[in-house]
Amino acid sequence: KARTVLLATEKAFAAAAVTKIEEVLKEAKYTLKKLENYKSKDELLAAVSGVDAMIIRSDIVDASVLEKAEALKIVVRAGAGYDNIDLKACEAKKVTAMNTPGQNANAVAELVFGMMIVSARNNFDGSSGFELVNREIAFYGFGAVARAVHKLAQGFGMKSFAYDPYIPAEKIKEMGAEPVATVAGLFEHQYVSLHVPLTDETKASINKDLLSKMPKGGTLINTARVEVVHEQDMLDILKTRQDFCYLCDVAPKDIEPFKAAVGDKFGKRLIFTKKKMGAQTAEANDNAGVAAANQIVGFFEKGETRFSLKA
Ligand code: 3PG
Repeated sequence: KARTVLLATEKAFAAAAVTKIEEVLKEAKYTLKKLENYKSKDELLAAVSGVDAMIIRSDIVDASVLEKAEALKIVVRAGAGYDNIDLKACEAKKVTAMNTPGQNANAVAELVFGMMIVSARNNFDGSSGFELVNREIAFYGFGAVARAVHKLAQGFGMKSFAYDPYIPAEKIKEMGAEPVATVAGLFEHQYVSLHVPLTDETKASINKDLLSKMPKGGTLINTARVEVVHEQDMLDILKTRQDFCYLCDVAPKDIEPFKAAVGDKFGKRLIFTKKKMGAQTAEANDNAGVAAANQIVGFFEKGETRFSLKA
């Protein structure tokens, strides 16, 4: 059966990745419909009608979208985090939801190091900074992204620590990181890098209690979701501790007080991106986009459900 796949990306993939997605779909005799860089939810609601499948990024797929997508069978989040998909609503409509774990992990890992180096070298302002060698980095969550950061950290001669409630301590050790028993234990190290999904449990969970445990030069790296960090608590820490740094992919909701809190040290103590940039590389776009297209074809042609998500 000829299928139509909607690529709905508020933040577009690189053009080369879109071409590759189209090639995969063409091979299966599917049609690609594109809605890129759209500005309003209405455009999305209009585009979903009649499509069999969707490829999305951080685009919101909720009950109202599913309502208009009467022919939809599968939605694939080309990326890791799926807090933008209402899985219960998908289940109710018998729509399969999937992600493409690991496909953009290296891109995020390189961004983490990019931000760490800019911070350690005082945003290249000419003053003396410090080196990352022999420093400690602790990972909250030790999935594909954290492991990719850990691999780079090993190259830099850093020491890694990790806490992940779903991964046995033995396995963390085997991968060359020191297992940490509690979330709080992570915050004894200079760098803490967040790699947890946004859930009811993790939302605003990185609070003053945890942040104030961090040693001198404490630096929180957030390439997970901005909502995981308690915004007001982070602001208070940046105001009261002149040594503290926050390196974040995507800016806090209300950035102005943050800028004011760090004053002249802007660019060292506070780094943030305009749009979520972690997965914004040619390679990550190719990997995640093509994986999503292949998963859709595999689902329809062979009944493959390997990466399907549970509500
Ligand atoms: C992810 O969860 O895969 C990343 O946050 C990437 O999100 P994006 O596709 O919106 O850039």
